[in-house]
Amino acid sequence: MSLPTYPSLIDLAYTLNHREIKTPWSKNEAEVRKIHFKYGYYLDKCLYNEVVDMFSNHPDAYVEFLGGRYRGKAGIARLYQGRFQKSFVKGRNGPVEGWLLDHIMMQEIVDVDSTGTHAWCRMRALMQAGTHESIEDYIPGGHRQWWEGGLYENEYIKEDGVWKLFRYRYFPFWHAEHEKGWSHTKKNYIPFPTKTYPENPDGPDELVEQRSLWPDTRVIPFHYPHPVTGKRVKEDDLRAPKYGEPVETSDPALVLDLPTDQKREGAEKRRTNENLNKSLTEFTMAHIFHLAPHIDTSPNYTNNELTSPEKVAFPKTDAFRSMNAPSRFEGSVFDLEVTGTIPPEINGTFYRVQPDHRFPPLYQDDIHFNGDGSVTAIRIANGHADFQQKYVETDRYKHETAARRSLFGKYRNPYTDNESVKGVIRTASNTNVVFWRGMLLAMKEDGPPFAMNPDTLETLGRYDFEGQILSPTFCAHPKFDPDTGEMVSFAYECGGDGADCGVDVAVWTVDKDGKKTHEAFYKAPFAGMIHDGGLTENYLVLALTPIKMNLERLKQGKNKFAWDPEEDQWYAVVPRRGTGDPGEIVWFRGDNAFHGHVAGAYELASGEIVFDLTVADGNVFFFFPPDKNVTPSADTIAKRNKLSSPTTRWIFDPRAKKSANRTPEAGDSDVWVADERVKPAVVWLTNGEFSRIDDRYVTKPYRHFWQAVVDPTRPYDFAKCGPPAGGLFNCLGHFTWGSDHYHTDPTSSHPTNGETKKEKAGLDDVYFPGPTMTFQEPTFIPKEGGSEGEGYLIALLNHLDVLRNDVLIFDAQNLSQGPLAVIHLPLKLKLGLHGNWVDNKDIEEWKTRRQTTGDVGPVKVANEPLPWQRTLQSEQANGNGEIL
Ligand SMILES: [Fe+2]
Repeated sequence: MSLPTYPSLIDLAYTLNHREIKTPWSKNEAEVRKIHFKYGYYLDKCLYNEVVDMFSNHPDAYVEFLGGRYRGKAGIARLYQGRFQKSFVKGRNGPVEGWLLDHIMMQEIVDVDSTGTHAWCRMRALMQAGTHESIEDYIPGGHRQWWEGGLYENEYIKEDGVWKLFRYRYFPFWHAEHEKGWSHTKKNYIPFPTKTYPENPDGPDELVEQRSLWPDTRVIPFHYPHPVTGKRVKEDDLRAPKYGEPVETSDPALVLDLPTDQKREGAEKRRTNENLNKSLTEFTMAHIFHLAPHIDTSPNYTNNELTSPEKVAFPKTDAFRSMNAPSRFEGSVFDLEVTGTIPPEINGTFYRVQPDHRFPPLYQDDIHFNGDGSVTAIRIANGHADFQQKYVETDRYKHETAARRSLFGKYRNPYTDNESVKGVIRTASNTNVVFWRGMLLAMKEDGPPFAMNPDTLETLGRYDFEGQILSPTFCAHPKFDPDTGEMVSFAYECGGDGADCGVDVAVWTVDKDGKKTHEAFYKAPFAGMIHDGGLTENYLVLALTPIKMNLERLKQGKNKFAWDPEEDQWYAVVPRRGTGDPGEIVWFRGDNAFHGHVAGAYELASGEIVFDLTVADGNVFFFFPPDKNVTPSADTIAKRNKLSSPTTRWIFDPRAKKSANRTPEAGDSDVWVADERVKPAVVWLTNGEFSRIDDRYVTKPYRHFWQAVVDPTRPYDFAKCGPPAGGLFNCLGHFTWGSDHYHTDPTSSHPTNGETKKEKAGLDDVYFPGPTMTFQEPTFIPKEGGSEGEGYLIALLNHLDVLRNDVLIFDAQNLSQGPLAVIHLPLKLKLGLHGNWVDNKDIEEWKTRRQTTGDVGPVKVANEPLPWQRTLQSEQANGNGEIL
C-alpha cells in the first residue's frame, strides 16, 4: 500500500500566500540543484555543446571565469566551445583518450525567489584533472595531474517552465599539483587574461576587476544572509589580511557585483526556509530594499571607474565610511548645546577645514584627501557657541556643481579628469584655513588659496595676493612671524602647471600690509612632497619627505606619489631673505622616515637652529605604496597601524660644511648637501601627530606643545566602532620640553648631531576620553596678556560609535583633568585636517578695514587666469578648457 503524498508545510504555506506559484518551492530547489549537477557531468566529459545549450538566451547571461566575463550566449560559447574545446580536446565535442576532468559538485545551497523563476546557488567543486602518461608525447602540456578547489555563486532563471543557467560565477581558490600539494603551488598558477575579444579570439568580453587565485584566501561572498541573525557578513570579515596584520592593509573584499548595465532583477525577493518562517510583521520591519525589488541597488562603479555618474551613491570603501562617510552639510546651528561652562573670556572663532566629497568620485578607490574643502566655524562668545559650515567654492566646485557630478579624477592627477575641465584649477582647498588681513584663506598645496569672508563663509574667489603670487601651487602651512606680522610661505612643484612632477621650489614673504617683499626660486634634489616647515628669525626650514612624484606614472592615470623606502628624509635650511642662489640652502640628509607636522623652530645664540616635528618610522600614506618600477624590492604592504610617530628635535647648523651635488631630477642645478648626515638630537617617545604650539611663539624658544596622541594601550571598543577612521588618535596630549632639552642657552649641553637621546624629554599631561572616541587636531587659544601656553585648547572629538562630533575646550595646561566645556554638535562632521583660532578683536578690526569705506577696502580676488592657464589657452586655439 502506498501512502498518500502531501506537500511540505513550507510549500503549503508558501503556495497559500503566493497563489501564482504553480511549482512548489522545494521542487524548484531540486530542479536547480539537478541542472547544475547535469552541467557538471557534461563538463567532465568535455561535452561543451551540451553545456552551452543549458544556458539561457537572455542577453544578461554570462560566465565569470578566472578574471574574465564572457557575456551573452556568444560569449559563453566562446569560453566553452572556443577556449576549452580547442585547448582540451582539439575542437571535438566529447572526451579524448587519457584526459581526465572530474568535477565533483557538492554542498549546494539553493535559494529560489518568491516568483519561482529566479534562483541562486552556492556550491563547491573539487576537480581532479590530468593526463595519463600514455598520451604525454602528443597531448599539449604533456604529462601532468593536478587538483583544483573552487566555489560557484550562480544564478538560474526559469524560462518557459524550464530552469536554465543564467549567471555563472566560478572562483577557483586553490590549485595543487598532485605530487606536491597546494602548499607548493606557484603564484599565478593560471595566468589571468589581459586581452579581450576580439583582440583575443577566445578571450572574454570584459576583464573583471575582482579576481583571486590561491594563496588569496578572501571569502567568496554569500548570496544569502545568516540563517539565524538575518545579517550579512561584515565586509572586513570577508577580507584576508596577512597573519597579525590589520585588516585595512589587505585587499578589499570580493563582491557579487553585476555588470553596471544589468539590474538585479528579483534578487531581493529571494526565498529561503528561514524567511518563510518569519511573520508578516517581521517582513514589514525589514529593510525597505528587501520589500522593494524594483529599487536598483547595483553599484555605480565597474573596474574602479564611475560608470553611472547620474546616480548619487558613494563607494562603500574605508575612505567613505565611519567618521568619513560623506557629510556634505552646509548650514548653521545657533546656540549649541553645552555641557560644562565655556570660559566667558573666550571670544573668537575656531575655523577648521575638512575634505568632504560633494559627489561620488570618478574612481571608487578615491582617498579622503581628494574631498572638497568644507570650512567649519565655531563662534564662541559670552559662554555660548554657534556653528556654521560651508564649502569652499573653488573652480573645481563650480564646474562640478554645474555638471551635478564629479569631473576631476584621482588625487592630484589631471590625466584622470573629464576632458571638459582641462585647464581648470583643480585644487579642492581642503587642508588648512588661515586668517590673513581680514579674509580666510582656504588652502591646499596643489593650488592657489581661495579667499572667504570670515563672517559669512562666503567664497570671494581665488586669491593671488593682488597679482603678486601667480604660482600654480602654494602651501597649506604658511608661517606667520608674530614680531613682524609677515606671512612666509612656500610651494613645491611650482615651475609649470602644478602637475609636472618637477623639482621647483619657491619661498615668499608678504608683509603685514600685504606687499610681497621677497621671492626666491630653488630646485629640490628630487620631486617629493614638502608639506610643512618651520620659521625662525632668519630661516625657513622645509621638510622634503621621501614620497615621490613621477610624471610617467601620472600620465598612466596612476598615483602621483609613491613611497620610496630607500630614499633619505631631507631638510632644507633656506634663508628668509635669499636671492635664489642654490648655495644659500643647506640640505641635510637623515635616514628614511616620514615627516609629520612641525611644532616649533627657533635659532640659538650659537647660530644653530632647533627644529621640532613628529617623524614616523614608515609610510603614513599607506594609499601611496612604493612603485614596483622604481623600488622593485620594496615591501608594498603598509604597516600603518604599527608605525610609531615620536616627536623629534633636530639641531641644524646653517654654516655646516657642505658640497655641491647634482641629482638626476634637479638637472644642471647644484644642490648643496651638508657633508655630515643628521640624526635627531632628541627622540621624545610620544606617539602622535598634529603638533601645535602657542602661535605667539613661532620663531621663538618655546616650552609647550600639544598634539593628538595614539595610545594603543588604552581600551578601544572595536565592536561598537570598527577600525578607527583616520587613525587611533585616542588621547590629547600637552607636553613641556624638559630643562635638559629646552635649548635656549648656547652654553648648555645638548647632544650633537651624531647622538640621539631617546627618552621622555619633559612633562606630559594626557587626557583619554574613552574607548569610543578619537580626537582631531587641537588648537591653542591664548589668554590675553598671558604667558606662553597660558590659555585654552580647543579640539574636535569624534564619537566613533554614534558618528557625531563634540567640540571640547580644555585648560591648556591641565588636559588630564578633562574638558571645561563640551559643545555638542547635532551632526557628524568629517575628519578635518587643520584649523586655527582667530580672536574676535582681529575679526572685527578687519571687518571695519575691509568695508568699502575702510582704509584697506574689500578683498581683491584674482581676475586673471594663472600663467599656465594662459599658456594652455594659447596652445589650444580651439580652447578645450573653460577658465572661470
Ligand atoms: Fe598638514
